[in-house]
Amino acid sequence: MAGDYDLVVVANRLPVDRVEEPDGSTSWRRSPGGLVTALEPVMRREDGAWVGWAGTPGDPPEPFDAEGVRCVPIGLSAEEVQEYYEGFSNGTLWPLYHDVIVAPGYHRSWWEAYVRVNERFAEAAAEQAAEGATVWVQDYQLQLVPRMLRRRRPDLSIGFFNHIPFPPFEIFAQLPWRKAIIDGLLGADLVGFQRAADANNFTRACRRASNLPARSGRIRLDAEGGREVRAASFPISIDYKALDELAQREDVAARAAEIRRDLGNPEFLLLGVDRLDYTKGILHRLKAFEELLDDGRTDVGEVALVQVATPSRERVEQYVQLRQDVEVTVGRINGTHATIAHTAVHYLHHSYGREEMAALFLAADVMLVTALRDGMNLVAKEYVASRHDERGVLVLSEFTGAADELGQALMINPHDIDGLKDAVVRAMRMSPREQARRMRALRRRVADHDVQRWAASFLEALEEHHGQAAGRAS
Ligand code: ADP
Ligand code: G6P
Repeated sequence: MAGDYDLVVVANRLPVDRVEEPDGSTSWRRSPGGLVTALEPVMRREDGAWVGWAGTPGDPPEPFDAEGVRCVPIGLSAEEVQEYYEGFSNGTLWPLYHDVIVAPGYHRSWWEAYVRVNERFAEAAAEQAAEGATVWVQDYQLQLVPRMLRRRRPDLSIGFFNHIPFPPFEIFAQLPWRKAIIDGLLGADLVGFQRAADANNFTRACRRASNLPARSGRIRLDAEGGREVRAASFPISIDYKALDELAQREDVAARAAEIRRDLGNPEFLLLGVDRLDYTKGILHRLKAFEELLDDGRTDVGEVALVQVATPSRERVEQYVQLRQDVEVTVGRINGTHATIAHTAVHYLHHSYGREEMAALFLAADVMLVTALRDGMNLVAKEYVASRHDERGVLVLSEFTGAADELGQALMINPHDIDGLKDAVVRAMRMSPREQARRMRALRRRVADHDVQRWAASFLEALEEHHGQAAGRAS
């Protein structure tokens, strides 16, 4: 039976997480990560439904509205959280799709849970979608949903967007269930990726793993009457205007000044903002900073590093290890280099509100994005959007999707520690004139390619492709 919504977004997470307070009451908190940052402002403007998990195990709450978005919760049992979310999604796919920075685990029970949970999401989306509606499935946790949805509801226009990289076939080929994943994705009319390279990797995987005729971003399915699936890149972005306005508020500017004062007014404030994830290169960044202090190229009287590291996936083994490693490293750097008056690294393992984040961006002279692999990296774009004063330098890893767009950043290879150190020093010493020239170009790019444009171009391409396919079939 068809539902009421003409647009349904399906994502592993809802835009808000259910939080059990110590007094037994329940509250809602904004969910972590770039997917929610990007999609929330888009969905606030649309009269659509968002199907997702509320972030805690157990029975799902009833559907509810949060900040103008209709939320339809999906329930996951504690075992499913372990096997589908922490296991197959974040212990298998996440490392596999991020250049196997850590070793993926392959477990049949995790795969079975992934299939089962994907069915549940597909069922819920099918219930919400009106006749002929658009359903937009998000990210690696739900790659089987497009096919499952098409079986239930052939009337729908189905899009899929992968927020993380799609790996080269030589890596993807490790996955014992590679053909099933490709078949799941090919249930969509349009499969979107961050970079052209990701779309190419996917098209090649269709040819190599499933022997399908695939060329120039079109995959032909002879078994389905020659239906064509389109694969293309749609680099995601942020709500530029909202952040630009927020950063221009007087209270935010005052808070930025206060942050610098509280840090002892360092001449240079370096900033890192990441989920505590091994893909982000936090240890590489700390190593470079530590060596700059060791070498005497800078000192704590002159510079401070603020590292905000949002808690993430805290029960997955590699994340537990990473947290320990980061905390030991920060402790060592501070033990060696801090003085009574000056701390070297301010490590903050918390989530902050939007105002505080904007103030931090505004306070920072140098933004360090040193990811070893990242689908896009919205933090880089957020820093740029906050700098209406045309000051500040973005140091950006070439292994992020953002590097394809933000050519005026100082590009680095995070594995090249000497290169990273030189880039940090160059950023600290850059003249205000050069900062302004680079920042102007960066801001123009992000302003012109904001998240509204991303969503509109994806949905237009989906409509056009679906229309063409329907035309061919009739
Ligand atoms: P990912 O999606 O891998 O987490 P992105 O850089 O694309 O990486 O997106 C991260 C998002 O989470 C950004 O919008 C960023 O501002 C936000 N974020 C990161 N750390 C924090 C934090 N400590 N508090 C609040 N928001 C945060
Ligand atoms: C990245 C992923 C998202 C995910 C987010 C936070 O942005 O692409 O799908 O929601 O990280 O991770 P989490 O596991 O907490 O949902």
